[in-house]
Amino acid sequence: MDLLQVSGGRPLVGTVRVDGAKNSALPIMAATLAIGDMVELRSIPDLVDVRTMRSLLLSQNADVSSLQDGCLRIHAGRAGGKVAHYDLVRQMRAGICVLGPLLTRFGRACVSLPGGCNIGHRPVDLHLKALVAMGADVRIENGYIVAECERLQGAQIDLEGPFGSTVTGTCNVMVAATLARGRTVIQNAALEPEVTDLAAFLQRAGAVIHGHGTSVIEIEGQEELSGCSYTVMPDRIEAATLAVAAVTTRGEICISNAPVSSMQATLDVLSQVGACIDESTSGLRVSGTGQLRATRFVARPFPGVPTDCQAQLMALLTTVEGQSEVADAVFPERFMHVSELMRMGAQIVQQHGEATIYGGRPLGGADVMASDLRASAALVIAALAASGTTWIQRIYHLDRGYVRLEDKLRGLGADVHRVSQSELRTPHYLMSDHRNRPSINEKGSGAATDQTPE
Ligand code: EPU
Repeated sequence: MDLLQVSGGRPLVGTVRVDGAKNSALPIMAATLAIGDMVELRSIPDLVDVRTMRSLLLSQNADVSSLQDGCLRIHAGRAGGKVAHYDLVRQMRAGICVLGPLLTRFGRACVSLPGGCNIGHRPVDLHLKALVAMGADVRIENGYIVAECERLQGAQIDLEGPFGSTVTGTCNVMVAATLARGRTVIQNAALEPEVTDLAAFLQRAGAVIHGHGTSVIEIEGQEELSGCSYTVMPDRIEAATLAVAAVTTRGEICISNAPVSSMQATLDVLSQVGACIDESTSGLRVSGTGQLRATRFVARPFPGVPTDCQAQLMALLTTVEGQSEVADAVFPERFMHVSELMRMGAQIVQQHGEATIYGGRPLGGADVMASDLRASAALVIAALAASGTTWIQRIYHLDRGYVRLEDKLRGLGADVHRVSQSELRTPHYLMSDHRNRPSINEKGSGAATDQTPE
């Protein structure tokens, strides 16, 4: 298992490029199961989740090339009739995205329920209700979703859930509808740019779709879809993570291919905090060198501040003098990063889906544990701003959504290294550079233990 060793205190400076968007690449890869011809995908990020999705497609008898220079060739001509096994689907929530494509093309799908998740309860009831409305017979057997139909029938679908629309649910229904008989109208469709990217891919494959990017999407079902090439959009969450990291370290970076129009809410929070944001032909320039101030925001579905940026922004706010407020209306329990940020000296009170951050207390390096993908990114950001060395464990979470983040950060001047636990002859906690460990009588250095706000 790998750890990340971060020695903080250096402002990020320089230019960086982001990879293709994970949350576009995964549903688009899954959607190739609805297509009998060769599909060529470009800008596919080399992530653990992408490798898991590749294994899932292979398990469905699709021919899938290995990923080379971001390019993946998928031919699902011989696919179908296989179970999407628990061992693969449980590793990655996006595994559920094979349900719609398999059902609509083959009339049968058997896909493991995705299971629990450490960012909160994540049901798939809206996906299943929609497929039933389209004429499928859906039942749960031994932890698997078994869905069957003659041919799906176009229908009026409403994807509104208690926490907004569902992103992967919209993807599943949209793909299912491309081969259904007649017209499907999705009300309360997710507006996320990754849904729009999937729609653009499906159009390239011959699907007839209107209204993507709005809350009402109309799909005219076709007899079949055809092969195509498609380039996935740049990752707005990776770009936002780097932007937040630059501001947190009081640095200045340029993200050359940032998808700025899909990042507006996050950039607005950064502006409220006092960062300078400037879009030019060379890319998105973000600077945190001025005076920063506390703020408040609520993570909401697009075009709101993404829940996938909530943890990273909270890490920034721990470094900004004053009282900030953060809430998450999409995943109200997504606060696993709070206790780890507090180990680094942050002062945060979190209850009932809201957190109050008493910012400006100095962060100090500590041993911390990544609990999920975006929580890991928040810990990296806090560690970049902390004094001393932070060791972040369980960074396999980070590798699910960021391509070699440590290399990109080093390119911007950070002191970040990946260390394999098996290669460490001396446990990291006995190493000489583990200098932020407080001695027994020492007070005030390293991680704070007093968790009451001032
Ligand atoms: N929900 C339901 N019923 C459903 C589906 C969802 O009540 O049938 C609820 C969820 O519990 C949640 C809310 O609706 O409270 C939104 O969930 P959604 O279905 O939109 O999430 P998702 O599609 O499973 C995608 C991203 C997540 C991102 C969310 C929200 C992918 C592969 N995953 O998940 O990305 O947080 O949308 O934007 O696209 C990440 O990248 O770190 C990540 C977790």
